[in-house]
Formats: sequence, structure tokens, C-alpha cells
Amino acid sequence: MSFLDAASSEGPFVLTEHDAVDVLDLYARCIDYFMLQDGEPATLADAIELFWDVPEEKSAVDQTVMGWRGENGLMAVGAILRDYPSNGVWYLGFMIVDAAARGKGIGRSIYDVIERWAVDRGAQEIRLAVLEVNGAAERFWRSLGYRELRRVGPDTFKARSHHRVELCRLLGGNLPA
Ligand SMILES: CC(C)(COP(=O)(O)OP(=O)(O)OC[C@H]1O[C@@H](n2cnc3c(N)ncnc32)[C@H](O)[C@@H]1OP(=O)(O)O)[C@@H](O)C(=O)NCCC(=O)NCCS
Repeated sequence: MSFLDAASSEGPFVLTEHDAVDVLDLYARCIDYFMLQDGEPATLADAIELFWDVPEEKSAVDQTVMGWRGENGLMAVGAILRDYPSNGVWYLGFMIVDAAARGKGIGRSIYDVIERWAVDRGAQEIRLAVLEVNGAAERFWRSLGYRELRRVGPDTFKARSHHRVELCRLLGGNLPA
């Protein structure tokens, strides 16, 4: 039984743009992250963008947005894009856990679900990009076996500019204990 089951949470559900208001509600409970990334709170447009923000050469149907629900609404979301930048490489565009629920194993648990879901559909590697200033998340990903691929940026995020660390994990083995 995963922590999420133990916590009476449900998921994953595949989310669509119709869930954007719920996503915004989760984002409001994660204001720490949006202040770090953007220097301002998230808006409904940001929540809608989660479903459409894919690279030019991909389509929104290549991305799956998964959500987990708890007593207070959405407690976590993760968005993964298939076969980008090449076949077999899947890109974890975003993952966030309700700030009040962090540090209890939920992030690790939902990542595990996302990874297994991607492997079942042909993923051989997962990549993601973490803001250089987001040291806590970088430590989280490294604890899951991610290693640095390269640094990118700077890129503009509303009122902020960031370099990001692109991390990758080759699949086929178990998650580190
Ligand atoms: C990053 C994030 C998803 C992790 O979720 P979480 O539920 O807090 O993580 P977990 O409780 O599952 O932690 C898993 C492991 O990472 C470690 N970890 C988590 N947060 C950490 C932190 N701030 N510093 C150091 N290690 C951390 C935990 O110790 C744990 O290791 P263990 O299993 O060996 O004990 C969550 O903190 C979050 O939503 N952050 C804001 C959004 C964000 O930064 N998203 C990532 C964008 S790239």
C-alpha cells in the first residue's frame, strides 16, 4: 500500500483543462513555489497553461497530466510528455505537491507511479529541468537517482529569470532505496 492509499487520497486521475480551477486551488496552496519561480502568485491562465504548454514540435495530446485528490481537493499533480526530445525519452514537465503535505513521502510515491506508467508505455529515460534556485527539489530528484545532463538558460519566468539544471534518469532499474 502506498502512502497515498494510507492517507485516504485517490489517484492518479488523468486531468484535463476542465480541472484548471482545481489546479489553481492547488497552486494557491503552493504559493512558495510560484514566488520562487515567477515572483508572483499563479493565475488561472497558469493553471490552464499546464495542459497546453508543450514544445512546438509536440502536441498537447502527447502530454498526460495526472492528479491526486485528498480531503482538501487536488493534493498533487504531475505532467509528463512522451517521446521528447527523442523516442524513448519522456519529459517530466512539472510535478508539485501541496506545500502542507510535503516531506511525507508523497512526492516519491507519485513519482514512482508516473515512472512506472511511462515505462509501461515505452519510456527508457526520463528528463526534467529544475530551477537552479530550487535546491530542495534538486536534492529530491537526486535522491531518486537523477543526474545532471546540462545547465540551460537564463529564461524569463514572469518577474524572474532562471538558469535551470536539466536532470536525467535512465530507466530499467529499481528506484534507489
Ligand atoms: C519536490 C517535491 C515534489 C517533493 O515532494 P515531497 O512530497 O515533499 O517529497 P517526499 O516527501 O516524497 O521526499 C522524497 C525524498 O526526497 C527528500 N526530500 C524531499 N524534500 C526535500 C528537501 N526539501 N530537502 C532534502 N531532501 C528532500 C526526502 O528526504 C525523501 O528522501 P527519503 O525518501 O530518502 O527520506 C515537493 O517538495 C514540491 O512540490 N515542491 C515544490 C514544487 C517543485 O519544486 N517541484 C519540482 C519542480 S522540478
